[in-house]
Amino acid sequence: MPNIEIILGDITKQAVDAIVNAANCSLLGGGGVDGAIHRAAGPELLAECRTLHGCETGKAKITKGYRLPAKYVIHTPGPVWHGGGHGEEELLRSCYRSCLELASENGCRTVDFPSISTGVYRFPLEKASRIAVKAIAEYLADHPEIQRVRMVCFDERTKAFYDRALEALR
Ligand code: APR
Repeated sequence: MPNIEIILGDITKQAVDAIVNAANCSLLGGGGVDGAIHRAAGPELLAECRTLHGCETGKAKITKGYRLPAKYVIHTPGPVWHGGGHGEEELLRSCYRSCLELASENGCRTVDFPSISTGVYRFPLEKASRIAVKAIAEYLADHPEIQRVRMVCFDERTKAFYDRALEALR
């Protein structure tokens, strides 16, 4: 069983090689976990993000972590949920894969994800958790260089869905 853990916590506090930011396409910050990460990382994060000139939905870009305990931040814009008929599921799967590919390329062995798109972007939590856990497990099966991936859930309700999604994989 690939090394995937589901924890309850604040992703800005995690001392891992990379944390993932559920960003928007501008990469210039926002609310939710994006806002929390920028607040904790400090102004240098936004300064570096400005040099990246945005990011497409489903793709990912990497920056340093600055004042965060994490070494890197991997920014990925998730899909906004528009009912499921606009490729949202594939785009969400692509977020997880793109972030892990960047993590491998940058020698990251521990990677923490938030629950991408299930806040402001309104992606249904049950579906998102299944897509996320499956995409991570599929990637880890071929990429032993990544030691551990965690889903860092900000509330019990979110964690319950990810726990169930992981159980369903076993
Ligand atoms: N640690 C971990 N998870 C967090 C934290 C935190 N500190 N803060 C919020 N979250 C959780 C939310 O509770 C939710 O489960 O992150 C998940 C994703 O929610 P959002 O942050 O709203 O992200 P998303 O739905 O992908 O919407 C992205 O929101 O903040 C803006 O700039 C961002 O436009 C983008 C949009």
